[in-house]
Amino acid sequence: MDRIYLDNNATTPVLPQVIEAMRPFWSETFGNPSSAHHSGQRARTAIEHARTAVARLLNCSPKEIVFNSGGTESDNLALTGVLQPFFDKRQPAHLITTEIEHHAVLYTAQALHRRGAAATYLVPNREGIIDPEAFEAALRPDTELVSIMLANNETGAIQPIGKLARIAKAYNPAILFHTDAVQAAAKLPIDLTGALKNVDLLSISGHKMYAPQGTGILFIRSGVHLAPLLHGGPQEHQHRSGTENVPGIVALGRAAELALDWLSSDAPQQLAALRDRLESGLLAAIPDTHVNGSTTHRAANTTNLRFAGVDAESLLIALDLQGIAASFGAACQSGATEPSHVLIAMGLTPAEARSSLRLSLSRLTTAEEIDRALEIIPAVVARLRSLA
Ligand SMILES: Cc1ncc(COP(=O)(O)O)c(C=O)c1O
Repeated sequence: MDRIYLDNNATTPVLPQVIEAMRPFWSETFGNPSSAHHSGQRARTAIEHARTAVARLLNCSPKEIVFNSGGTESDNLALTGVLQPFFDKRQPAHLITTEIEHHAVLYTAQALHRRGAAATYLVPNREGIIDPEAFEAALRPDTELVSIMLANNETGAIQPIGKLARIAKAYNPAILFHTDAVQAAAKLPIDLTGALKNVDLLSISGHKMYAPQGTGILFIRSGVHLAPLLHGGPQEHQHRSGTENVPGIVALGRAAELALDWLSSDAPQQLAALRDRLESGLLAAIPDTHVNGSTTHRAANTTNLRFAGVDAESLLIALDLQGIAASFGAACQSGATEPSHVLIAMGLTPAEARSSLRLSLSRLTTAEEIDRALEIIPAVVARLRSLA
């Protein structure tokens, strides 16, 4: 059976060009980038080349890029790194985040709250979007940190980060603004010198942008000081101790180059059109089906659909048996019986959240695959409904 992979927000395949770029760094160029000899220096040069490529994708300085193990580490370093000095000095600190963050942010915020930080969790509207006025009203004299994601992993909804960061800086220029861009990087243009010039910290994960799992990036704007999570060597300008994952970093650099090419072509519009064909086809073929979240401010590859009366967990299993990989929330929640915290925060009932399915396409998804999915999914939903 040819399988159709529609779970690219969980992880993307590694592109062949990325694998090709990494390959020498497992074999002939295996040096430790901290070594002074030729082999080490070749690895060092490759890391710096990758850093420049990532900086070009984000329109920032290479010095502002820190490589690490992924989105979770980036989010933890951003939040804990900002607030740790306040704990050390026993000073009060308030952070603002949202109820729709990935658990990498949400659970870190909760951990910081348990350590004494005050925390505000903003609630989105029914479209999954945070209201700038509600954000402004939440700012306080002791607010030190904001963490609001750029694109949501479950609905694809895009937050007005440029505007929110501008509001925060206008209120108090000392507030640090972090955005989790794990689901936005390489899907949407990110301009840290233009629209996102007020963002101080930005997280990216390699395995959502066609590089391998276990690789990531934190953008740290020049002049921003973070307490490190790890203690050890001086790698990554002392922001991230530990010998660098050279093949992984090379992969991130190559993936960034490919992303820049992709974003400057008409491919993003084609991907959105493919997603729309899937979405409108399912809405037309399956009665009582609804889109969860914004359809106007949304990553091009994602749709989150609610099939009334259908248990999404049963649907997932039935689709998998038919060769379609989908998801009903964050990958780490699959198999859990809890309904999605994102959909609940948007105002869906637990029953509605439990009948919702996320379909996420990639640059490699084909029109033929979408056509086959349009044959299979309505038939599976109809069968499950007839059994209910
Ligand atoms: C929005 C978001 N943030 C953070 C993460 C965590 O990234 P990683 O898997 O690289 O730790 C994910 C992964 O699903 C995500 O979707």
